[in-house]
Amino acid sequence: MVTCTDIRKSYGNLEVLKGVDLSIDAGEVVSIVGASGAGKTTLLQLLGTLDKPSSGQISIDGSDVLAMNEKQLSQFRNTKIGFVFQFHQLLPEFTALENAILPSLIRGDSRKKAEKKAKELLSFLSLNHRLEHKPAELSGGEKQRVAVARALVNEPAVVFADEPSGNLDSHNQEELQKLFFDLRSEFNHTFVVVTHDYHLAEMCDRVIEIKDGLISN
Ligand SMILES: Nc1ncnc2c1ncn2[C@@H]1O[C@H](COP(=O)(O)OP(=O)(O)OP(=O)(O)O)[C@@H](O)[C@H]1O
Ligand SMILES: [Mg+2]
Repeated sequence: MVTCTDIRKSYGNLEVLKGVDLSIDAGEVVSIVGASGAGKTTLLQLLGTLDKPSSGQISIDGSDVLAMNEKQLSQFRNTKIGFVFQFHQLLPEFTALENAILPSLIRGDSRKKAEKKAKELLSFLSLNHRLEHKPAELSGGEKQRVAVARALVNEPAVVFADEPSGNLDSHNQEELQKLFFDLRSEFNHTFVVVTHDYHLAEMCDRVIEIKDGLISN
C-alpha cells in the first residue's frame, strides 16, 4: 500500500532522513515513534506527498507519487490520502457535517452523496447528535473525531495522522487510538500514526522507530 525506498531528506546541511526503507500493507495500523526532532513529521509529510524527499522513491496504492505534477498530486491527495493533524484544523464557520463533507464536495460528489457518507462516518464516531455544531461548540475529542471523519470521507487508501491525540487528555487519547482499530475493522483503512506515546504506539500492529535518520527496528 505504501512503500518507500532509500528516502533521504536534508534541510540545508542538516540531513534528517538518511535512507529510510518502509513498506506498509493495506489494513495495517502502524505507529511511528522517535525523539523530538528525529524526523517523524518530516517522514509523514514525505509519505503524504506534502513535501518531496532529496532522493528516494515513494509508491502509494501502486502510484509513483514523485513522478506526479502538482495538479495530479492534489487530486491524488484528495482521493487517496487522509490527514489528521495534532490540531484538528477544522473550519470554524462550518458545522461538523459541513467540515466532514468538504473533501467529498472538492472531489465533485453531489451534496447528497457527500452527506450520506459523512453521516455514516459521524454516526460510527458517535457524533450523530452533533452534526449541526460548529467546532467552537464541540469538545476536544469531538473535534478530533470530526477531523477523522473528514479524513475518511473519500475512503482514502491510507490515513496519515501526526500526533492526532496530542492535545487530548489520556482517556480521549486512548479512545481515539482505539477508534483507528474500529475503523480498520469496519472499513479496512490503513493508518500510519505518529505518536510520542509508547503506550499508544504499542497498541498498533507495528511500531517503527526513527533514530539517527534511520528506522532503528
Ligand atoms: N523546514 C525545515 N527547515 C529546516 N529544518 C527543519 C525543517 N523542518 C524540520 N526541520 C528540522 O528537522 C528535524 C526533524 O523535524 P521533524 O519535525 O520531522 O521532527 P519530529 O520527529 O516530528 O519532532 P517532534 O516530535 O518534536 O514533532 C528537526 O531537527 C527540525 O529542526
Ligand atoms: Mg513532529
